Amino acid sequence: MQRIKFFAILLVVFSMVMFVSLQTPSAGSKEEAIAKAITDYLIEARGVMARNQSLINDASKGDKGYTPEFFEAQVVESLKAKGIDLKGANAGDPVGKALIDVNAAAKEVVADAQPVINEKGKGFKAFTPAIFGARTGDKFYKMTGIRLKQTSIKFRGDYNRPDEFEEAYLKKFEAAEWQKGKSIVEEAKLGGRNVVRSMTPLYIAKACLPCHGDPKGEIDISGRVKEGYKEGELRGAISTVVPIR
Ligand code: HEC
Repeated sequence: MQRIKFFAILLVVFSMVMFVSLQTPSAGSKEEAIAKAITDYLIEARGVMARNQSLINDASKGDKGYTPEFFEAQVVESLKAKGIDLKGANAGDPVGKALIDVNAAAKEVVADAQPVINEKGKGFKAFTPAIFGARTGDKFYKMTGIRLKQTSIKFRGDYNRPDEFEEAYLKKFEAAEWQKGKSIVEEAKLGGRNVVRSMTPLYIAKACLPCHGDPKGEIDISGRVKEGYKEGELRGAISTVVPIR
């Protein structure tokens, strides 16, 4: 009898432990969701920037109407197609808050660039997806302590240089065995802190080709050498570092 009682208690305790461990999200899962949301945001926002390069670089126009609100409306639409509701983001939830913050940072970047964008008589404005991405990442980092950056093995800008972790994954993404579009997320230690790191492959879209496509070796509108990428090829990655709180 004593024995049965003992085992019954053991079973109850075991079930309770299992229940609690299944209910409690594992450390880092909130950070993982934040990493995914801000990566999706940056990919779509960079796409909007790429699709508007000919407007931004139109020398014949003064006021281009490429305002923070115009930009945001296009990002909202792009994210909707990915199943993300930017307008419905809830500031009370950490993922919603991160989306709201990254959008605020991006809109500030577009607002700051207005004098350059609206300059008449000037062709190339150097307000590329990469410049936009780097500025947005910097602002967002200052707001939140979360790192968000674009990187590539074939980096044109030194600020996009991959660190060791990023380079290792960029090489994996390039390998023929890597499943297209598959991202990674890992817990890691960086500067003595526990963080979640993510890497998401970034592919060449049609709007990227005028600068990164063919003919390889020719100079693009930015004065840089075209890499000769084809649509759908891996260009780099979006990298995030989210501190675990
Ligand atoms: C108007 C030309 C232009 C377009 C369009 C363009 N890029 Fe770039 N891209 C650049 C320039 C210029 C740089 C280097 C930034 C700098 O000056 O530091 C760059 C840099 C990058 C980088 C960072 C790595 C590096 O080389 O420093 C990535 C990743 C990238 N581009 C991907 C894309 C993708 C993906 C698209 C399409 C969605 C795109 N670009 C569209 C001109 C362009």
